[in-house]
Amino acid sequence: MSPADLVMQSYGRCCASSGFFDSFYQYFLASSPEIRDKFAHTNMPAQKQLLRQGILNLVMHARGMPDTKLRALGCSHSRAALDIRPELYDLWLQALLQSIGEHDGQCDASTRLAWHEVLNKGISVIKAQY
Ligand code: HEM
Repeated sequence: MSPADLVMQSYGRCCASSGFFDSFYQYFLASSPEIRDKFAHTNMPAQKQLLRQGILNLVMHARGMPDTKLRALGCSHSRAALDIRPELYDLWLQALLQSIGEHDGQCDASTRLAWHEVLNKGISVIKAQY
């Protein structure tokens, strides 16, 4: 199976596991005060739904979708808008991989590697807009 297909199936299992996005934000917010500050006034239930779609955009990009949606995300997260420093994506990635490990009961080493590959490709498109 290709990395993009492995990730698509793993993401399906994560989304079907209750509390996946709660776990992600729990880890992500705990990872730095700078991140907690950024989300201080955010409606978190709504944000979890937005992230569900945002991750799907990363996955679909790996399956060949044009990068238009990721570039728009890059624009909203850029210096002139949300001002998300590129270093913070490392914490984002760690929090997500931790949550995947806990919520995808079939996540093995090759699935983990596939997620790394897929996410890094999309994240570089987003960071390039900073
Ligand atoms: C690839 C990784 C990421 C994805 C897929 C993602 C996705 C999203 C999406 C879909 C939204 C809502 C739509 C928009 O504003 O464009 C959003 C908003 C936001 N994101 Fe991200 N994001 C990522 C990384 C980060 C990181 C590293 C931070 C660091 C703190 C961050 C902080 C925020 C904030 C503060 C908002 C606005 C929240 C509000 O409305 O109050 N994001 N993100």
